[in-house]
Amino acid sequence: MCLAPGHNRLGAIADDLAAKGWSWQPGLLPDQLTQALREELVARDADAALAAAGVGRETAYQVDKKIRRTRITWFDGTTSPQQDFQAWTETLRHGLNRELMLGLFEMEVCFAVYPPGGFYDRHLDSFAGARNRVVSLVAYLNEDWDETRGGALAVWGEGAGPDDLPAARIIPEPGGVMFMLSEAIPHEVEVTHETRYGLAGWWRVNQSGVDRIDPLS
Ligand code: OGA
Ligand code: MN
Repeated sequence: MCLAPGHNRLGAIADDLAAKGWSWQPGLLPDQLTQALREELVARDADAALAAAGVGRETAYQVDKKIRRTRITWFDGTTSPQQDFQAWTETLRHGLNRELMLGLFEMEVCFAVYPPGGFYDRHLDSFAGARNRVVSLVAYLNEDWDETRGGALAVWGEGAGPDDLPAARIIPEPGGVMFMLSEAIPHEVEVTHETRYGLAGWWRVNQSGVDRIDPLS
């Protein structure tokens, strides 16, 4: 199975990120991988393995259904779809580091299910100043999707206010992948009318210093 995105696609993603801070790539995730990840997610969700998603983490952890209504479960790297996805993102990581010199180091990933009525209000993916998330990646896993089902991803340019019109509204079509600079690009998941399957990943940089070794997991 050839998983690696071609040089053209990598170049386009890097150019977009440099120019506007986000890049939408329809059909980037290989079909077979999209399907395998969807099957795993559907099975996990049926097992009720997904906890109600929180906003923030650790001490900031809260389940706030006013901001977000999603079920998430973190990757644990134990299944072959997860491992194939991680291998696929490694190619992207090397390419983006080469093109943009971002020093992307490690990715954390979670599956996300938005049930009918699910949404995620306008937000940034990074916690202020922490540089713990540098580039975000969202991939869509439904079998098919169209505008009438809702759940579009609205994305704003860097510095845009909540009253500004979004720069784009992305229809979450299968295998489409969205890249965003985590600290800069506000985005929102509009209310979905049908169950919406996807995953979200964040690359962070290595924050090792003289008195701190950043562990690999
Ligand atoms: C997120 C997110 C967007 C989407 O998980 O932080 O913004 O389209 N997801 O699912
Ligand atoms: Mn987000």
